[in-house]
Amino acid sequence: MATSVLIVGAGAVGAFYASRLSLTPNTTVSVICRSNYKAVQANGFSVSSPLYGSYNFKPHRTFSSPEEARKSRETWDYVLVSTKALPDVSDDSEILEELVSDTTAIVLVQNGLGIEEPYVKRFPKTTILSAVTIVSAAQTSPGVIKHNRWTRISIGPYLRHLDSGEGRPSDARAVGQNDKFVRMLKDGGIKDAEAYSHSKLQAVRWHKIAINAAMNPSSVLSAGSTNASMALDPELSIHLKGVMDEVLSTAPKVLGPASSSLFESLATSEQILRSTQKNTSGSKPSMQLDWESGKRMELEVILGNPVRIAREQGLEMPRLQTLYALLKMAQSNRDAAKQQKSKM
Ligand SMILES: NC(=O)c1ccc[n+]([C@@H]2O[C@H](COP(=O)([O-])OP(=O)(O)OC[C@H]3O[C@@H](n4cnc5c(N)ncnc54)[C@H](OP(=O)(O)O)[C@@H]3O)[C@@H](O)[C@H]2O)c1
Repeated sequence: MATSVLIVGAGAVGAFYASRLSLTPNTTVSVICRSNYKAVQANGFSVSSPLYGSYNFKPHRTFSSPEEARKSRETWDYVLVSTKALPDVSDDSEILEELVSDTTAIVLVQNGLGIEEPYVKRFPKTTILSAVTIVSAAQTSPGVIKHNRWTRISIGPYLRHLDSGEGRPSDARAVGQNDKFVRMLKDGGIKDAEAYSHSKLQAVRWHKIAINAAMNPSSVLSAGSTNASMALDPELSIHLKGVMDEVLSTAPKVLGPASSSLFESLATSEQILRSTQKNTSGSKPSMQLDWESGKRMELEVILGNPVRIAREQGLEMPRLQTLYALLKMAQSNRDAAKQQKSKM
């Protein structure tokens, strides 16, 4: 039987990985669309990439809503979620009601910390695979996906009972589902897809947070700076390094000493700054793009949750807390002004 994959959140990241998974032998890939439904239903996705060239990806089934996917009564081996993680706006785990069975694996391809929790709470018996990607992609118009660079995706089963106790018999199934998904991505041409253990994947998540928490809010608060211009600016680069070091020094204290060796193998704040200085393509962080277009930013999962998770263990992150407090208020002032304007 073919392996069936359903994508929830078929935007830049979801559609890009869907298009690669669709090339895996004996695999069908379907999507739930929202604002891009008409375009995708008519023409599929048009993908352009410096690595894979230009191609069209026609999903196996294109659903206009979660309800339509539910009505299809299809069963899914993997449900990949790549909506923006906005727990202050919606609990997207709700979308998956009646779409997952006990044998489905939910794959979360989203930035941030603590993103797995709503899914564990709602589907305690279902495998959750947690994925961190450093792909750079954008949906430039409905159904048109521009892959800019990078493909790295790190995936591990989310088994939080291992943080404080022993493994369970069901862990082996989750590890198997994880390994199979990584093989499927590799078969689809994603050569740097990599399987991780639960604890190592959480370390990778914290490491990505170091970059996101530094670049994203700083771009918004400096009125739309590019990553490179911030890394090249003498004062801003000190600030970026300060934020990254704060996250990278807090993470091993939260995750436990066993994670220290993994952090030693990942890029340091100096290395991240040097490589950002060289990337003068003019790219801006996603939070700035969301701010520019009046959308909600992923503040809670990139800033709020790390601050809260650290605080639960008696640790403060003053740089992150400052960025979080300022941007949260800026966002709420902006939304209030928008609401006021719409009433006039
Ligand atoms: N883009 C990147 O290069 C990149 C790189 C690394 C990590 N990430 C992370 O990956 C995640 C996804 O980012 P993205 O850039 O792919 O975002 P995106 O382009 O905005 O895609 C999100 C998609 O989810 C859809 N969606 C949201 N709620 C939905 C719902 N209830 N039902 C159906 N569809 C829904 C959106 O539809 P609408 O268009 O109708 O809103 C949109 O198509 C984020 O956590 C982001 O931080 C992104």
